[in-house]
Amino acid sequence: MDSAQNSPHVYDHTFTDRVIAATGPKANPRLAEVMPSLIRHLHDFAREASLTVAEWTKGIEFINECGRMSDSKRNETQLLCDVLGLESLVDEISSKLLGGGNGTPSAILGPFYRHGAPDLPNGASIVRQLAPSLPWYDRAAEGATFIHGKEANDLTPLAGATIDVWHTAPNGLYEQQDPLQPDMNLRGRFTTDSSGSYSFYCLRPVPYPVPDDGPAGRLLGLLDRESYRPAHIHFIVEAEGHRTLVTQVFDEEDEWIADDSVFAVKEGLSVRFKTRDGDKRARWELGYDFVLATGPNGD
Ligand code: BEZ
Ligand code: FE
Repeated sequence: MDSAQNSPHVYDHTFTDRVIAATGPKANPRLAEVMPSLIRHLHDFAREASLTVAEWTKGIEFINECGRMSDSKRNETQLLCDVLGLESLVDEISSKLLGGGNGTPSAILGPFYRHGAPDLPNGASIVRQLAPSLPWYDRAAEGATFIHGKEANDLTPLAGATIDVWHTAPNGLYEQQDPLQPDMNLRGRFTTDSSGSYSFYCLRPVPYPVPDDGPAGRLLGLLDRESYRPAHIHFIVEAEGHRTLVTQVFDEEDEWIADDSVFAVKEGLSVRFKTRDGDKRARWELGYDFVLATGPNGD
């Protein structure tokens, strides 16, 4: 049989339009707007790739497997989007549509955010009580870090704003991936004081590979791709009347800074950790100010 490239008109050229035209007059308006494009791209992909039934069936099994593996602690479908660059692209589109102004750049949420991190006072640590038997217990002391900064819009410090923060342990695992870590380890929520300032203790983040024990990781292997993310800390910053900022800061000294497996590193989000003197609780220090844009959050 000729390949599709040799015979461009081999398929019914009315088919895609007929599928799009099946949408009824009472369709959900946003779906009626976006589905023609989705259907067109899907059909073009199938034609261009000469997709066989056997391959399409494998694709369905792959997506089903992502769904089965996802729960409140792990989101494999989101991880799949991440390794395909889709979450980063959607983040870029959203921030351009909403217009971030001079605000801190956003970055992807990623699949490991958990609601309900403990509310902590400024200056507290997000490191929960660690068992000295943990394999990385000594490395935790070496990475002890103090982070501080302000929240503001362009001109005014923002008092009473919140910062939700999370990062991995020195073994590269988030607490929900690791039965040896205490619940909610390395997660916390802080509220800025009257001068708009926040501060907390944590650990200097490390690079880590995205999980490879599911379909998304298998895909990376089949594509002969690296799986590492550069060392980073996640933040969600919220203040009344301002656009919620979802972002990450990246250690500029990390070897993976130019090769993030989920394409999330952006200009303006690279930071340098400095040595901290005179503080028994921290060897490292990072000062980072967040600037929030005014306006609504896009739904
Ligand atoms: C993360 O930063 O937590 C993350 C983002 C995308 C995929 C996997 C992990
Ligand atoms: Fe992360």
